Amino acid sequence: MKLIFPVRAGRPLTRANAATRRVDTMMTWRAPSFQLEPSRQDTVIHGAVTGPRRPRGFRSRISWAGLVASVGLLACDSPAEPLHDDLATEVRMLAATRGFEPLPNPRPVRNDLVTLGRALVFDKLLSGNRNIACMTCHLPETATGDARTLSVGEGGTGLGSQRSHPEGIFIPRNSPAVFNLPGATRLFWDGRVEEMSDGSIRTPAKDQLTPEMDAVFEFGAVSAQGMFPVTSRHEMRGQPGDNGLADLDDDDFRGIWGFLMERLGDIPEYVGLFERSYPGTLFDNMSFAHASNAMAGFYNVEFVFNNTPWDRFLRGDNDALSDSALAGARDFMTIGCANCHKKSNFAGDFHNAALPQFGPGKTGGREDFGRESVTNLPGHRRRFMARPLRNVELTAPYGHLGQFATLETFVAHYNDAASQLEEYDIAAHVPDRLLWPTLLNNVEEILANQDPVLFTLRFDEETHANLVAFLRALTDPSARDLSHTIPERVPSGLPIDRMNE
Ligand code: HEC
Ligand code: HEC
Repeated sequence: MKLIFPVRAGRPLTRANAATRRVDTMMTWRAPSFQLEPSRQDTVIHGAVTGPRRPRGFRSRISWAGLVASVGLLACDSPAEPLHDDLATEVRMLAATRGFEPLPNPRPVRNDLVTLGRALVFDKLLSGNRNIACMTCHLPETATGDARTLSVGEGGTGLGSQRSHPEGIFIPRNSPAVFNLPGATRLFWDGRVEEMSDGSIRTPAKDQLTPEMDAVFEFGAVSAQGMFPVTSRHEMRGQPGDNGLADLDDDDFRGIWGFLMERLGDIPEYVGLFERSYPGTLFDNMSFAHASNAMAGFYNVEFVFNNTPWDRFLRGDNDALSDSALAGARDFMTIGCANCHKKSNFAGDFHNAALPQFGPGKTGGREDFGRESVTNLPGHRRRFMARPLRNVELTAPYGHLGQFATLETFVAHYNDAASQLEEYDIAAHVPDRLLWPTLLNNVEEILANQDPVLFTLRFDEETHANLVAFLRALTDPSARDLSHTIPERVPSGLPIDRMNE
């Protein structure tokens, strides 16, 4: 697949972004608030055109080093090192001003709670038709996502990219990884499970999630998250007539949770696991909040990763990052990426990143208004959460619909996002042909409230390569094989979904 660098000139401009788009060629492109000095126009070609430029002299020092190398004056220390260390110092300073720190170790979680959580997330008993578990869509073998553009829920067959539904039914969004959730205050692509500043948790269940349930949650928003997949018909519950759980009304959250606790209570092994996990509380006095909290405890122990090259670099090891990854870290923090991917986890607020819309959508009309449907604020239309980025290399495809299959293509999208959106060719990025005809022709609407940071975000091929190298340096080696997190069996005796079986 060809990446576009830079975008071709001369295509029609849309009204929504005409003011900020390149009007002639890259050489004369300029953002409204920022004009290049003629003498520095070459930096438009080599490097990002927004934000602070590479430090003066960086390139010339490279060529100086190259010259020295080529005339063989390298008897003692490698000349690459001072350069590397200079850049490392610069990146450390940028990281400190931006508040990027190594991720701390998570709080320990009691073993019994982890054992219960592990059983629950792999047990198909939590689904109406006993045919899908949480981990069917968050497979350890595919980095706790499902390696699919859009997920396929209950009633589907096969796993990962091979999974399909007999009626071609898709979940409206991509299944994100469940990495590094401790401390996350907003979950789902639209943040509809959210810990508010007063510590209360806002969810789609509103006051059906009682203060007593809230009191059970030990890990913040992530403790509440597991309450919801079980209520979704297409994800786990099934259609009316299928089973008792599916016969309950969609807004009867308490009924659904109570039904599941009865199912679990019929299995003595579960009763024992629950009572050991919450010493002093009888199973009969527990609610599904105890189950959901245990699932969060399991995620917080098994899927937290902070031993990436980037973390090692931040802890003081300059050699943890390659030259390219270091340059990528600098670019990430200077050209605009870090305006949205903030804090140590790189997760941020909600933004419209100008990505295309396809699939069933969430509105009934194949649209997905993202954050707007949570806050009811029209300005939040098509805003989605800026994702945390550790292990991102392992969690393809990318975007809230899995719009891009590779890191390279997703990052390339940011190079003049509006033009990239106009040129988006679903057949080139999405393997599932059933989705191709569902691409909406709504570029104008999407761009109408595209995030302003994207108006001026442009970069060249070298910066692109460095950014990708940086993102790859966010991988914890121990996340590459997570098969040890899968239990041998679950208390219901139902089969566990495993890849390659
Ligand atoms: C049918 C596939 C499917 C099943 C089954 C499923 N999930 Fe998910 N999961 C998804 C999708 C898709 C999303 C994103 C949905 C959205 O943002 O609207 C998601 C989001 C999440 C998130 C939020 C991650 C984040 O960073 O925002 C967590 C945590 C999670 N699921 C855990 C679970 C648990 C626990 C269960 C079982 C109770 C479960 N999932 C069952 C597909 C699934
Ligand atoms: C305007 C805010 C913003 C800027 C600037 C930004 N991002 Fe993002 N990023 C987001 C949002 C929002 C998402 C999720 C978008 C969606 O799916 O709708 C995202 C998603 C991603 C993803 C995919 C994550 C996943 O799991 O699917 C990657 C990788 C990424 N960004 C890297 C970058 C890099 C590299 C840059 C700089 C070139 C950058 N971002 C600049 C907001 C931003």
